[in-house]
Amino acid sequence: MTSHSMYKEHILDLYKNPRNFGELANPTNSHHGNNPLCGDEITIQLIIKDDKIVDVKFKGVGCAISIASASLLTDHIKNMNVETIKNLTKDDILDLMHIPISPIRLKCALLSLETLHKSIEK
Ligand code: FES
Repeated sequence: MTSHSMYKEHILDLYKNPRNFGELANPTNSHHGNNPLCGDEITIQLIIKDDKIVDVKFKGVGCAISIASASLLTDHIKNMNVETIKNLTKDDILDLMHIPISPIRLKCALLSLETLHKSIEK
């Protein structure tokens, strides 16, 4: 198996069994984002304490890439500083995904990052 197909399997696995999927009882921040092109949507909830992410959950319906990227991103930001999150870019998401994302699927991969960025603006 090539490493790309291994990561593809990993993406599909995260789609079927997403990490950090659900709702928090007392989020300090949350945002609902959607991709108007396809109608997929996700809500990210955070607990921020002393400028750090102490807990995070997401919920939503979407394609494998949008759900897998939300899984990977929510894992990645646990205990992360809010300032560091503000500086996360498209390239960080692509690094987490480990598979080539075609320009047309880029919106799917970035939905979680856009939603996360909006959730910490509040
Ligand atoms: Fe909608 Fe991917 S097809 S976010």
